[in-house]
Amino acid sequence: MKFLIVLAVATATVAFPLASEEAIEVQTAWNAVKDNQADMLYAVFKDYPEIQDKFPAFASQDLEAIKNSEAFTSHAKRIFGQLSSIFDQIGVDSNEEEIKASLERIGETHRNRNATKEDFGKFRNALTKYVASRVTWNENLAAAWNKTFDGIFEIIFSKLAE
Ligand code: HEM
Ligand SMILES: *[C@@H]1O[C@H](CO)[C@@H](O)[C@H](O)[C@H]1NC(C)=O
Ligand SMILES: *[C@@H]1O[C@H](CO)[C@@H](O)[C@H](O)[C@H]1NC(C)=O
Repeated sequence: MKFLIVLAVATATVAFPLASEEAIEVQTAWNAVKDNQADMLYAVFKDYPEIQDKFPAFASQDLEAIKNSEAFTSHAKRIFGQLSSIFDQIGVDSNEEEIKASLERIGETHRNRNATKEDFGKFRNALTKYVASRVTWNENLAAAWNKTFDGIFEIIFSKLAE
């Protein structure tokens, strides 16, 4: 069963960093899956083929045929490596400026690739589903996870066209 997560676009200002206890919950969950980069990109593309189609290297290719390729793995490592470096930095006051700068760069590069807010929402849904089914998921973790993505997306979205 596909579970649907209704994406509420964050209106409240969510400042970085998070409280360190919240960050640790998110980091612990992320650390359990972060090395499964190709598997996570597969999960995103499987749930949302329209996102796969926005990647020039993979558009309209057979996902099952490409998922073990070198190109697929190296793309996945770049994407989730970037996310890992952001997750590593949350929860520490003095990282706020650096986090913001990284997220603004992601917004700018992805604006140029025609990635939309809706695409990012789908990416989040698929990734959340992936993580939630592989770690011990509970209300506290879900709340900290949501707060992290609301905060990350607020900054990325400030640079996207729509
Ligand atoms: C938080 C989520 C995401 C992160 C951290 C992220 C990060 C990255 C990174 C690090 C790269 C490669 C390095 C670079 O050229 O900047 C990349 C490439 C790319 N991303 Fe994302 N990305 C995210 C979400 C998305 C979404 C939702 C889309 C949907 C369209 C997308 C589309 C692309 C495309 C088309 C490329 C270019 C791939 C290529 O070079 O062939 N990304 N992303
Ligand atoms: C983004 O969309 C514009 C307008 O539709 C198009 O001209 C451009 O080629 C697209 N860029 C990419 C990277 O897909
Ligand atoms: C987290 O966000 C999702 C999607 O917006 C929502 O369905 C869920 O109830 C939220 N959970 C918590 C604990 O805030």
